[in-house]
Amino acid sequence: MKVLVVGGGGREHALCWKISRSPLVEKTYCAPGNAGISRHAECLDIGVGDFGSLAQFVKKESVDLTVVGPEQPLCEGITDFFEKEGLLIFGPSKAAAELEGSKTFSKNLMRKYGIPTGEYFVFTDMEQALAKAGKIEPPFVVKADGLAAGKGVIICHSREEGEDAVRSMMERGAFGEAGAKVVIEEFLTGEEASFFAFTDGENVLPLEPSQDHKPIFDGDKGPNTGGMGAYTPAPVVTEKLRQRIIDEVMIPTVQAMKSEGKPYRGILYAGLMIKDEDLKVLEFNCRFGDPEAQPLLMRMESDLVPILYSIAKGEMSTDPMEWRDGFCVCVVMASRGYPGSYDKGVELKKLKGFTDTGETVVFHAGTAFSGDKLVTNGGRVLGVTSFGETIEESIRSAYEAVGSISDGNLIYRTDIGKKALLRIGC
Ligand code: AMP
Ligand code: GLY
Repeated sequence: MKVLVVGGGGREHALCWKISRSPLVEKTYCAPGNAGISRHAECLDIGVGDFGSLAQFVKKESVDLTVVGPEQPLCEGITDFFEKEGLLIFGPSKAAAELEGSKTFSKNLMRKYGIPTGEYFVFTDMEQALAKAGKIEPPFVVKADGLAAGKGVIICHSREEGEDAVRSMMERGAFGEAGAKVVIEEFLTGEEASFFAFTDGENVLPLEPSQDHKPIFDGDKGPNTGGMGAYTPAPVVTEKLRQRIIDEVMIPTVQAMKSEGKPYRGILYAGLMIKDEDLKVLEFNCRFGDPEAQPLLMRMESDLVPILYSIAKGEMSTDPMEWRDGFCVCVVMASRGYPGSYDKGVELKKLKGFTDTGETVVFHAGTAFSGDKLVTNGGRVLGVTSFGETIEESIRSAYEAVGSISDGNLIYRTDIGKKALLRIGC
């Protein structure tokens, strides 16, 4: 079987790594891919938004299945485009991807179907949004309705910050059309977790719980990023909570999407806030998480390919997946300056000397070749991912690898996995 992965970050590297290990797969392609992905897949010089060229390639090479990594092409309708061409693709339709593409759509869906989430208000009129931001008790959250590359969420600690957030979106157009509508939301406290489930629009096949680390600095300080590290399983999700997430969030959401005439086929990602055994949905995403996909796919023992293939065909099996017993931790190494501005093209001298082992894999995100040099090419650069029988062991191996790659040019958090350690220890 031939498989094409669309995207070029750490998540897509983990997907290509996992897919290329399947005995069913003879050839893996990735568009556009990155320097690390080229070890597992043939990288194509086609952008994720160029649906016509992607479909043309798939037809020419008789690719059996296309797997979409990022949200942008899904929200722009890559699945609808491929299906019209009679091509098999993994990922929700444009209508179903609205669950991530419009915060208003997903909040309204949750309200209508009783899926637990924070209180919120939607505005298309700036004066009304300003009036609300000037009235409610801080902290609260202002969100651009549409996709904003992970930057459209502003946590406001004062009314002035709230008014400025509203103006930045609705007056100054910080996120273009995505900010023409805003959601003002209750600020939720607790510990975050990421929960994923495969679905064919009808049935739900849950993955193991995981946890991301959004802020740039240790101790969850500083601005939010795309994610600075992740691990699985996440002890904050107890067995009881896991079942409640499936029963109260994942199944009702899949059923709600079906009732709305927008059946959701793909992987459903719920970003959750957990407090005192209580749970609320912060957001839904229509794809694998990044970096969560890196530790999840490394720990997953089941063959991923039959699952993706059967969902694309609309007939998923609900046989539980198999997972390695133990923990997997991913530490993200990023360009100095990220999530603000940073240089590209910085040589990764020490990476060349590092070889992946059975228990540690360095997934690449923003990397490229410059001649025969390996250089940085983005904000998040590497996801150093290690498996261990215990959380301590996986953290130790990941940081040992980070230490051997680190040359002062990349930044990383030193406390990835600490929350899990504290929970297990207590
Ligand atoms: P989202 O893109 O909606 O997941 O937001 C990105 C991040 O912002 C989340 O992972 C949380 O850390 C934070 N966030 C979003 N909404 C809220 C909320 N209502 N209360 C507290 N934090 C939030
Ligand atoms: N881990 C955050 C995201 O994938 O959106």
